[in-house]
Amino acid sequence: MTDIADIAELIAGADHIAVNTGAGVSAESGIPTFRDALEGLWAKYDPQELATPEAYARDPELVTRWYDERRQKVLACAPNPGHHALAQLEALFTERKRRFVLLTQNVDGLHVRAGSRNVVEVHGSLITWRCTKTGATYHDLPVPFDTYPPISDAGGPLRPGVVWFGESLPADALEASFEALSTCDVYLAIGTSGVVFPAAGFVEQARSAGATTVEINLDDTPMTRVFHHTLRGKSGELLPALVEQVRARLV
Ligand code: OAD
Repeated sequence: MTDIADIAELIAGADHIAVNTGAGVSAESGIPTFRDALEGLWAKYDPQELATPEAYARDPELVTRWYDERRQKVLACAPNPGHHALAQLEALFTERKRRFVLLTQNVDGLHVRAGSRNVVEVHGSLITWRCTKTGATYHDLPVPFDTYPPISDAGGPLRPGVVWFGESLPADALEASFEALSTCDVYLAIGTSGVVFPAAGFVEQARSAGATTVEINLDDTPMTRVFHHTLRGKSGELLPALVEQVRARLV
């Protein structure tokens, strides 16, 4: 475990930082995890019955009702100090013409709501939906929807913009991730369990390309041994403190 001041020093000296976030960053916002969202009326369903292209083809009403419930729960939650600190860190970097890329596995859209701009949503988004006829994306949809599935202005049924089981990750997100990991000089993985690939492998990619790597998590993960440095604690507490220390070093 490394001191927060040493990590702040490392970040303040970086020209290009890549950050990967997972569900842990949203935990303090009260976001239900994928499995926690299968409660109440939905407890009888298996994820495979709801989170696959086959499920949507079989019963678009059921699938879009479930995703709309998740979307509404997420919209009722707010970004926490961890999300805000990452948005501030990005602003500190871009003001100084340095690069900051945020690769998130979270589908809750909270980084964007906190003001992060250069965000790559590698597992897609619950907030952005896509027309199955034209591929066009929609963000400002009614809450709740008027129909299930909702229908686009082109007359096509909409589907959630998340990556389902059995689907590949969006090619543009993978490309942007690869580019960031191979060129960053500091890589931070925050609140992610290190078991879901490809994100779990980001640390190895960044490290082999020469970046210094830092894991911020409540606990150790299967990838902990690969990181140069670790910080242990809640992201909603550690990140604001860390970013304050970076700011102090940049003035
Ligand atoms: P997990 O829920 O598997 O792991 C969350 C990680 O965050 C764990 O390592 C916790 O120790 C840590 N953690 C929890 N609370 C924290 C806090 N307040 N501060 C810091 N760390 C904390 O989530 P992910 O690794 O993000 O995929 O899971 C990755 C993907 O698996 C998700 O994006 C989702 C899921 O299946 C899809 O939706 C496609």
